[in-house]
Amino acid sequence: MSSYDNVFVLDHPLVQNKISLIRDINTKDKQFREIVAELAILIFYEASRNLKLKDKNITTPICDTVGKTIRDEIAIVSILRAAIGMENGILQMAPNVKVGHVGLYRDPETLTPVEYYCKLPNDIAERKIFLLDPMLATGGSAAAAIKFLKSRGAKDITFLCLIAAPDGIKKINLEYPDVKIYTTSIDKKLNDHGYIVPGLGDAGDRLFGTK
Ligand code: PRP
Ligand code: URA
Repeated sequence: MSSYDNVFVLDHPLVQNKISLIRDINTKDKQFREIVAELAILIFYEASRNLKLKDKNITTPICDTVGKTIRDEIAIVSILRAAIGMENGILQMAPNVKVGHVGLYRDPETLTPVEYYCKLPNDIAERKIFLLDPMLATGGSAAAAIKFLKSRGAKDITFLCLIAAPDGIKKINLEYPDVKIYTTSIDKKLNDHGYIVPGLGDAGDRLFGTK
């Protein structure tokens, strides 16, 4: 938990070590992508701690027994494009989850989100949703995605990001107090261009080498 409501900061040493590596301007695309995927797995691991289980009959090489399997239906929803880096990690660990995509980019002048794509599982309203975006800056993109998911009936949304700014956290807390946020860091502030300080720069550009 953090000093904000509903915000969980992963303070595990492995996580903190990895987030420092990808903040570093000298970390190249390949390693950046690998670490984003690893961090996403670790954040998802923590955020999914309260998933419901059900019994499952299993036959081991020794005998019959009753094990556990996950009862909740899950979807991860990636805010394009930077969340693709997180999605790739989570799908390694949980290959059977359904995946939705919401395409949003921030208008560089107004910093408001512009939607350009959306494809969600048909039964999204029944699923426990983990919404992914590495960066929570002004919170405009996350809020727009949450609004959209709720308009499609979503009732259970958890937001997973690598780095959060206080502005974004306050916006989500205020507009969507039911949405929990999992992150590895709450950074100091936003700069005049809406970038997180100290942050890690433009997550999409660093993942895909577009700058
Ligand atoms: C980045 C990031 C978030 C958004 C966060 O995406 O991946 O989606 O900015 O900023 P906000 O909290 O102020 O809305 P960007 O708009 O750069 O698009 P991209 O993923 O296509 O690079
Ligand atoms: N989007 C990014 O990719 N980085 C930031 O710091 C803010 C928004």
